[in-house]
Order: sequence, then structure tokens, then C-alpha cells
Amino acid sequence: MLLNTLRSTRVLQLTLAVIKPDAVAHPLILEALHQKILENDFIIIRKKDLIWRRSDSERFYAEHEGRFFYQRLVEFMSSGPMRAYILAREDAIARWRELMGPTKVYRARYTSPNTIRARYGLTDTRNTTHGSDSEESAKREIAFFFPEFSAEQWLEKEEPCFRAGHAEYDQDGQIHMPFKHT
Ligand code: RTP
Ligand code: MG
Repeated sequence: MLLNTLRSTRVLQLTLAVIKPDAVAHPLILEALHQKILENDFIIIRKKDLIWRRSDSERFYAEHEGRFFYQRLVEFMSSGPMRAYILAREDAIARWRELMGPTKVYRARYTSPNTIRARYGLTDTRNTTHGSDSEESAKREIAFFFPEFSAEQWLEKEEPCFRAGHAEYDQDGQIHMPFKHT
């Protein structure tokens, strides 16, 4: 699949998206979410399946330490496999959060029934997906999940290819790949 429809005049933005353990536990939901990412014109730059230790979970959610839901959240996020994506798009951060919907699942079902959390979320903690909420957190969170990835190098070397549509979806790897120039 060529990326003709994705040609963009503005620099592509990166965000970190995570499919949380409640959704990864159900292969059909995981697949539906992967398709949703593709249908909404996100470019999948990297994809990684992983399981967190409790200490990873505590480190990632340090900003929420002390909140009433912190222990529950930390336990849940290290309770089973999850999937992380680096996604690119114009306004990737806002568009992914829009697709996810409100944090609280019951509110999401009421106010935004077509969002991911409304459709698949189980509780306010087990709410299916995570998305970075600013450029700063996207940078930090991408480095947390993908320490081997250099956003600077990607911006310089690959972003122009993707923006021009010189890339395709690789069915085997389930990510988008830029065309190699000879
Ligand atoms: P996320 O970080 O997962 O993308 O979600 P968010 O920005 O919409 O929400 P945030 O306030 O950052 O909360 C992080 C995660 O903590 C859990 N939570 N549970 N029981 C509760 O009321 C409650 N509040 C937050 C959720 O898993 C939320 O996504
Ligand atoms: Mg958040």
C-alpha cells in the first residue's frame, strides 16, 4: 500500500501509543486497534510487544504517585503483555488522543461512543490505550519504550520520505517502511 493519501505539507509529528494489557489479552481487539491506527492515516514507525516489570510501571507513572488510582494503575500495567507504537501523522498527538476518547470509560461511552475507550474500555483504570499528551511527553515516552530510536535522526533522514508518501506498509512486519533509494 503506497502512502499517496498521506502526503502532507506539514512536518509529521511523532507520538507514543500503547495498547494496554486489557486489550492485548484479546487478539481480536488488538487486531481491531491495529486496523484503526491504519484506517486513521497514522504511519506506524515502530511497533514493540513487551511486558513491564512493576518497577517499569512505577517509573513510567511517577507523575501520578500519590493519586488514589496509582497502585491500581501500576499493578494493572505490569499485569500482562502490552504493545507500544511510535506513530507519525500531522497532529499525531492530538489525533490519537481524540481517537482514544476520555480517560474515564463510562464518561467516554456517554459523550464519545465511537472512541476506542468507549468501545473497548473495561474500567477507568483498564481503559485500553495510552497516548502521549504533549510533544515533551511524547519525546520522553518514546525514549522510555524505544531507547534505541533516535527521533532526531528519524526527523532528518526518514520524515521527508514519509511526508512525500515514499513509503509503504509492510504486511509481514506490520509497520510502514520508507522506500530505499539506490
Ligand atoms: P493515558 O496517560 O493512559 O493516555 O491516559 P490519560 O492521559 O487520559 O489519563 P491520565 O490522567 O494520564 O491517567 C493515566 C492513567 O491512569 C489511570 N487512571 N485511573 N481510576 C481512575 O479514576 C483513574 N484515573 C486515571 C488510567 O489508566 C489512565 O489512563
Ligand atoms: Mg496521561
